[in-house]
Amino acid sequence: MRSVYYNDSLDTYFLTRFADCQAVLVDPDFLVPDLDWCAREVPAWREHPAAGLFYSSMLRRNGSEHERLRRLVGRGFSARRAAALRTSVEGVTDTLLDRFADATADGGAADFQELVGYPLPVAVMGELIGVSPEDHERFHGLGRDASRLLEPVRTPEDWGRADEAVAALREYFTALVDRRRSRPADDLTSTLLAVRDAGDGRLTERELVDTLVLVLVAGFETTASLLGLAVFALLSHPGQLALVQERPELVPAAVEEVLRWDTPVQMTERIAARDVKVGGVTIPEGGNVTTVLAAANRDPDQHTDPDTFSVLRRDSKVLSFSAGPHYCLGAALARMEGAVLVGRIFSRFRKLAPAGPPVRRASISLRSFDYLPLVTT
Ligand code: HEM
Repeated sequence: MRSVYYNDSLDTYFLTRFADCQAVLVDPDFLVPDLDWCAREVPAWREHPAAGLFYSSMLRRNGSEHERLRRLVGRGFSARRAAALRTSVEGVTDTLLDRFADATADGGAADFQELVGYPLPVAVMGELIGVSPEDHERFHGLGRDASRLLEPVRTPEDWGRADEAVAALREYFTALVDRRRSRPADDLTSTLLAVRDAGDGRLTERELVDTLVLVLVAGFETTASLLGLAVFALLSHPGQLALVQERPELVPAAVEEVLRWDTPVQMTERIAARDVKVGGVTIPEGGNVTTVLAAANRDPDQHTDPDTFSVLRRDSKVLSFSAGPHYCLGAALARMEGAVLVGRIFSRFRKLAPAGPPVRRASISLRSFDYLPLVTT
């Protein structure tokens, strides 16, 4: 069976096998599309602040420039900070679930995404970066609009929304950096500011602000997606949910299975730096490749019975956070948020149930719910 599909109109080779996707993601002969690529593909990119931000970010840089930015941001993800975040994730989850209980106490339905799915990662990203809680609300809309950038094919409307959101986020983070300059705190903004102000050229002011925007955008919509997908997957598989409720030690495996079965980030792109053979097909130098992470996660050569949702899988390897040099920096944090939420919501609400059809996000790259109505009694 063919596993590499070239699509003429999109001019990309779609890879659907786990082994092929993994090989490309870790191969230094495949690069992420960078600012030079963007300048060729989107000649008017200077008119789009969102393009400038995205294609100069670590997500779209290669080689030593990528390593430099990644190493600096990695400092903000220390083990100490991760441990501190766990306590706060638990506290925020409990508060949000209290609100969810109130909203559904009369037997009516409430939207999980609005009350829990979005506010939880916004609060966590806010704490990591150093955004004050009263500003969290604003980030919901801005994060959603900025994440239109992750679409493989962007409409003029996508660009418009992403540009406006990026301009607003840059303004916000410029002001936050100024505040931290006079009053540092224990957050990623202050960590990066210390590097910037060391004055040895490791980080420019623009890179500092844009990195904060990137981390927010990368870590918020994706995790909000995972949380909704996790709740929905377990509610749609009562036998599996019963297992998790009986044996809470299965919670991390349940989150892993959600990442595999309903992959939040469906695909990512690379460019061949030279002619390379993948899955029996030669990708020519300069050729675009789309690794379909969601398909790889359901590859029968990698996972037995791949379309079955089972929390009992052992050592299941997923590509949901990519692989290689761009492997998601927030993977541990996202898994932890997922595990805290799944553990707490299903032990607290034993009668949690869907209340009507959910609404999926109109998006090619991000698998997510815009609306997920649930009842608790
Ligand atoms: C379920 C939640 C998440 C998913 C599914 C996800 C997925 C991904 C994927 C697929 C990539 C790599 C894209 C590529 O290879 O081209 C990535 C990169 C990245 N993610 Fe995540 N992510 C999630 C949560 C987070 C969180 C919580 C943060 C921050 C706290 C974060 C920060 C980043 C950053 C900074 C990168 C760029 C890494 C690099 O280019 O070196 N992500 N993520």
